[in-house]
Amino acid sequence: MRRALIAGNWKMNLDRAGAISLAKGVAEQAREVDHADLAVIPPSVYVDAVASVLQGSNVAWGVQNVYWKPNGAFTGEISVAMAKDLGCRYVVIGHSERRHILGESDEDVNNKVHAVIDGGLVPIICVGETLEEREKERTLVVVERQTLAALAGVSADKARGVVLAYEPVWAIGTGKNATPAQAEEVHVALRKVLAGRYNREIAEAIRIQYGGSVKPDNARELLSQPNIDGALVGGASLKVDQFLGIVAGLSR
Ligand code: PGA
Repeated sequence: MRRALIAGNWKMNLDRAGAISLAKGVAEQAREVDHADLAVIPPSVYVDAVASVLQGSNVAWGVQNVYWKPNGAFTGEISVAMAKDLGCRYVVIGHSERRHILGESDEDVNNKVHAVIDGGLVPIICVGETLEEREKERTLVVVERQTLAALAGVSADKARGVVLAYEPVWAIGTGKNATPAQAEEVHVALRKVLAGRYNREIAEAIRIQYGGSVKPDNARELLSQPNIDGALVGGASLKVDQFLGIVAGLSR
């Protein structure tokens, strides 16, 4: 049985005080949660402050991006070692906003996946089709390509610990979520891709989160699908009650 992971991607929101107070609220309310792994992914400049709040709680933390080189002249970037130094467990890689707004390629994603795994952290690898791709019935082709490219050169042993996040681009921040059936269909297809790339056992072990307008009122149905192993939550993760409301939607 895969243990669900519910992660809150705070994106480029909040200020320092807001990040600290949100982290406090989540840690406090999450005290009794033992049926899922929880994480928050603050803006990297606030990770240190958030980490001091979450230390000793059952909420882990991560960063929204890293660069794949270990150090050097890469202005504006942060390394895996830096994320590790701040106690991060997770690194979101290849989020659609990075792919589509900031021009990240499949190859960049692959380089980052290697760096994160080799650094001992867990990549949350995002894949997902645009509305145009869905309308042209290219969804499965696109997510397969993104998944295989992200995992190029990643051994079976290393792949076991990664997290995949299916996030249809048209559902992110739009209030339109994939129906549970639409999401499950893609998750099943992704598990087949993983089984073909590795084997069944590894495909069954890898957690595949759904992301895209997950809210307390749609979480239960989405999270009850057999191949949906948690959620990557944007907007609703900025409010303690909504984030924990999503966690509550996960059956024990
Ligand atoms: P959303 O974002 O929940 O606001 O749609 C999800 C994400 O981008 O991870």
